[in-house]
Amino acid sequence: MTPATASQAAASQTLARCRELVQPALVEAVERLHPWLADMAAHSLGWTGTHGNFVPGSQGKGVRQALTVLCAEAAGAPAECALAGAVTVELVHTFSLVHDDIMDGDETRRQRASTWKAYGPGPAILAGDAMCALAAQVLCDSPAGQVGAAVRHLADSLHDMARGQADDLCFEFRSWTGPDAVGVHEYRSMAEHKTGALLGCATGLGAVLAGAPAATVAGLTRAGRHLGVAFQAVDDLLGIWGEPEDTGKPVYSDLRRLKKTYPVLAALATDTVAAGQLIGILESGGTLDDAGARQAADLIEEAGGRSATQREAQQHLDRAHDCLAALDLEPTACDEIRALLPSLIHRRA
Ligand code: IPE
Ligand code: IPE
Ligand code: MG
Ligand code: MG
Repeated sequence: MTPATASQAAASQTLARCRELVQPALVEAVERLHPWLADMAAHSLGWTGTHGNFVPGSQGKGVRQALTVLCAEAAGAPAECALAGAVTVELVHTFSLVHDDIMDGDETRRQRASTWKAYGPGPAILAGDAMCALAAQVLCDSPAGQVGAAVRHLADSLHDMARGQADDLCFEFRSWTGPDAVGVHEYRSMAEHKTGALLGCATGLGAVLAGAPAATVAGLTRAGRHLGVAFQAVDDLLGIWGEPEDTGKPVYSDLRRLKKTYPVLAALATDTVAAGQLIGILESGGTLDDAGARQAADLIEEAGGRSATQREAQQHLDRAHDCLAALDLEPTACDEIRALLPSLIHRRA
């Protein structure tokens, strides 16, 4: 086994251990929903029904629930005390994807029809709302201490996530060049909110439920937010160069809709011939067809947007490691988190 394969295997094992722990509580929570809403929740979670059996290839990676469990352990508490937090973050994540696919007009998610495509936008909005409410309820019912602080942490994160989604959508109306153009620093702040908020919620919530000191909660939350920026950069890469059989999502969807993703913005920030040609395509108006999207992808790569995005992801992963290093954490759990982190950026799905 090569070192890379060994570390992938360790990461998969960690995700599987946490999934096994959290899944029964997640199923129990979903069963509390109105039956129609529970069906939609099950669909979005990649299950065959509300009993929680997965359709092969349709399950999410379970990154957020794992981070909550691992961070509670790293703060010196047993995994069980983070169970409600883990269910909460996985429900919030799923709700955010259900609504995000409506906002982005994406018809596929987790290798199946996105929830709005399968049930209609109205019902999917309602199912997302219900999952968000259920997430808060699960946390309120947590037998662990610190429930007030935990709900506060969740509410702050949800607020931040909505802020990030708002920026992401507002970017669509901005120009590609000139004073109104979106800079990479603005993108980074948007990503920290839309994706970092929930990853920071996941890491911080584990610490809150473990009763960790404020500095540990803050440090782990910061680590999660850096992970979010790294994770989103890779999500942008996979949206262009990923394989739909691996990602379960459509390819070129962002490019076709002329979304301001990191690889495009990084390419435009270069003074290259390819960047000039790319602007010509992006400013041609409307949406791109397959050939236009492929041509844009090639130019982004030629201008260095792909490699700049990989660097951006690595830098934020390194900063997440630095945040961990600054804390006094339980060594075994901390090592498990460290072993998981590279798989968040070196991934195909
Ligand atoms: C996708 O998240 C949405 C982003 C915030 C980038 P994941 O890639 O974690 O989605 P699943 O849960 O594995 O499907
Ligand atoms: C998803 O962002 C972020 C949230 C759902 C809050 P994207 O729109 O970039 O993610 P994918 O590519 O659809 O999963
Ligand atoms: Mg999307
Ligand atoms: Mg989106």
